[in-house]
Amino acid sequence: MDKNQNPTNFSVSDIRDSFPIFKEEIDGKTLTYLDSAASAQKPKRVIDFISKYYLYHYANVHRGAYSLSENLTSDFEESRSIVRSFLNADSEKEIIFTKGATESINLVANSFSSLMNPGDEIIITELEHHSNIVPWQLIKEIKDIELKVVPINKDGSLNIDKLREFLSHKTKLVSLTHVSNVLGTILPVREIADLVHNNGSRLLVDGCQGIVHQQVDVKEMDCDFYVFSGHKMYGPNGIGILYGKQELLDEMPPYQGGGDMIRNVTFSKSEWADLPAKFEAGTPPIVPAIGLGEAIKYFSSFSIKDILSHEEDLLNYAMEKMSSLNDVKVIPAPKLRCAVISFIVEGTHPHDLATILDNYGICIRAGHHCAQPLMEILGLNSTARISFGIYNEFEDIDRFIDALKGAKRILA
Ligand SMILES: Cc1ncc(COP(=O)(O)O)c(C=O)c1O
Repeated sequence: MDKNQNPTNFSVSDIRDSFPIFKEEIDGKTLTYLDSAASAQKPKRVIDFISKYYLYHYANVHRGAYSLSENLTSDFEESRSIVRSFLNADSEKEIIFTKGATESINLVANSFSSLMNPGDEIIITELEHHSNIVPWQLIKEIKDIELKVVPINKDGSLNIDKLREFLSHKTKLVSLTHVSNVLGTILPVREIADLVHNNGSRLLVDGCQGIVHQQVDVKEMDCDFYVFSGHKMYGPNGIGILYGKQELLDEMPPYQGGGDMIRNVTFSKSEWADLPAKFEAGTPPIVPAIGLGEAIKYFSSFSIKDILSHEEDLLNYAMEKMSSLNDVKVIPAPKLRCAVISFIVEGTHPHDLATILDNYGICIRAGHHCAQPLMEILGLNSTARISFGIYNEFEDIDRFIDALKGAKRILA
């Protein structure tokens, strides 16, 4: 059997056929895209769907009394239903469209913090992306609250005992990643949700990586907030999701003011609209939101079991090949990990390596991956990183390994 074909209908060659970018050569070379953790490529189906809306169906939503706008509003709200069903949330009121995960976290940081008192605490972890660090630092200054950081173990897993120790009556929120974008560590979010709730606190899960590499069911996970960006799940950029439990979102004040989020406005005061409009001030990212619905339909046309099994095979294959190369040091990650490998080549700067690999048509990420504090803990300034998506084939890894050998020769 073709090693890119697993036993069910999940066929990598069919998947690659549906992504126009893989049909093109880049400067005469086959594109080897190993940077899906930064942003995923888009299937033709999603691209066509989006252009159809700009070509033939475009207007504003929630405003027009004419059918073009009414039809678009209905498609926009249909997309919200698709997201709700994908996450298994209870209601469309719990699904807020934002422009990305970063905005979703800033929304919670600004709005949820108004329910906090000076001296209250927020807990994050050493694994976090800057998006789940900086918004809390900004709020910490304004609200006089404390920020605690749970350490990781040597293998890159979270030190759950420390989290237990940190939880106290002062803890209002624990905000952590579902899957690390640097190490691929998968956090036991359900177990953590129990700990957090037994302490009377709330849990935000940054699902930027988790949404494409794990089965996500917010009820099963019992998180209070779950955030992600459309562009990492084969959808458009400029669209993100904040899922929040309705009773919490109801309690929280709006994040931004403007059109669409109000029921009534006078010069002396305004009344807010109901959820989800309360958190969607101004013209929303209309077409990206509709495109996200199509990307979710595309992603859901495969079984998550097949996706995870394919990505695990790629991970194991790459780890085995990389371990046979002298001077290549993979950054330790725990057993419970997925789809991402960070590494360094002794004596070589990751940026130089990425530049040389680019000459072979290979896209990898180099840098601190928006996780500078984690880099400091690892004792590094930067790493090189490869990450996988549904369209990656074993040949991508073969080309990467060959190019890595070539780069080592050039840099020797
Ligand atoms: C774990 C994690 N959190 C947050 C983000 C920020 O996502 P965005 O830039 O789409 O808002 C990323 C993006 O790389 C990420 O990997």
